[in-house]
Amino acid sequence: MNKLVLPGDILPAREAIEMISGVDLGPPIEVPPIPTCANPANVSFDERALLNGEIKRLKKEKNVLILAHNYEPPDVQDAADFIGDSLHLAKIGRDSDADVLIEASVLFMNEILAVMKKPHQKVLAPSLKALCSLAAHADVNKVKAWKEAHPDGKVISYVNTYLDIKAISDICCASANAAKVIRYMAELYPESPLLFLPDVFLGYYAAKTLEKVGQTTDRLYLMMGACHVHEKITAHQVMRQRALHPDAAVVAHMECGCVSKCMTLLDQGLVTEEMMQLRSTWGMMEFLKKTPQKKIIVATTVTNIYPMSKVAPDKEFIPANPEARCAFMEQNTLRNLYESLRDMKHEITVDPELARQARIPIERMLAIQ
Ligand code: 13P
Ligand code: SF4
Repeated sequence: MNKLVLPGDILPAREAIEMISGVDLGPPIEVPPIPTCANPANVSFDERALLNGEIKRLKKEKNVLILAHNYEPPDVQDAADFIGDSLHLAKIGRDSDADVLIEASVLFMNEILAVMKKPHQKVLAPSLKALCSLAAHADVNKVKAWKEAHPDGKVISYVNTYLDIKAISDICCASANAAKVIRYMAELYPESPLLFLPDVFLGYYAAKTLEKVGQTTDRLYLMMGACHVHEKITAHQVMRQRALHPDAAVVAHMECGCVSKCMTLLDQGLVTEEMMQLRSTWGMMEFLKKTPQKKIIVATTVTNIYPMSKVAPDKEFIPANPEARCAFMEQNTLRNLYESLRDMKHEITVDPELARQARIPIERMLAIQ
């Protein structure tokens, strides 16, 4: 009889990878509708000018740093001091001395700022609805049970987790440094079982990263979790766009459903690294600065195309899946960014003991470039 595998379960890597298509990796939490004002076209020119003017005024008056993730609505990105991927934003927030750190992203990223902040700082989030389906898959009790069963095991948790998970992890990683963190942990603990969580697609990437440095994946365990947006960016969609645009380079996020196909093509030499890259959202911008290709197939949310087209206005961007949008990231709008600054809401506070424990794996992650 086949074993019943549920989302959030932890399995040896080989079994987890084989089970991907047999487990419901859909969102374990309700996905909210995207507010109409997340599209700047639905906000009048006058209102936008007023909101931008007020945001600038409040920023100066209250000594605020505004950070925005690459998936945020365009007008939110335009109002930010810095945009970037999760690792980049965590570093900028940690290094800032501003009195107020407001980050338009998803709440696990605001939590990182709340852990790393200096005593005089306040951390705000424009919307408390900015959750994450991937982080919601990570079940702390299953991680505790795995640790009990593997007393010498090491836990590598992806940044898309909440503090309860981070607090019992040995190290965190983001997509920008996932390969380096996995290699680092494998070399530092050559005998220990390793658990990578919560994304099974990134887990596949972790397994391949170990194989590439001649390490067995026998000691690797993965959690059956996924992002409901990236899971639906499939190999079929990427291959269809490649067939339509043979001169286009592909950039794909490692959370995507297409990750195994992309890595297999690369490993077998069927596609060159010049024509296909697995990157963090910010890493995609760096690739754009180097590639001579004029057309880019984008395997991540379509909102990432806005900062990409600013970095490379001469290029044509083709979404692998034009439906791919993160409704959680788009809960932040120019309006609630303004309201947040005006009313100093929503302050993100963290349990001091959890923060003390979570700070260690977060600092380890931030130390690995
Ligand atoms: P990045 O670290 O690449 O920005 O990814 C975060 C994320 O949530 C992607 O879905
Ligand atoms: Fe989470 Fe997916 Fe949104 Fe990223 S895109 S924040 S992983 S739900």
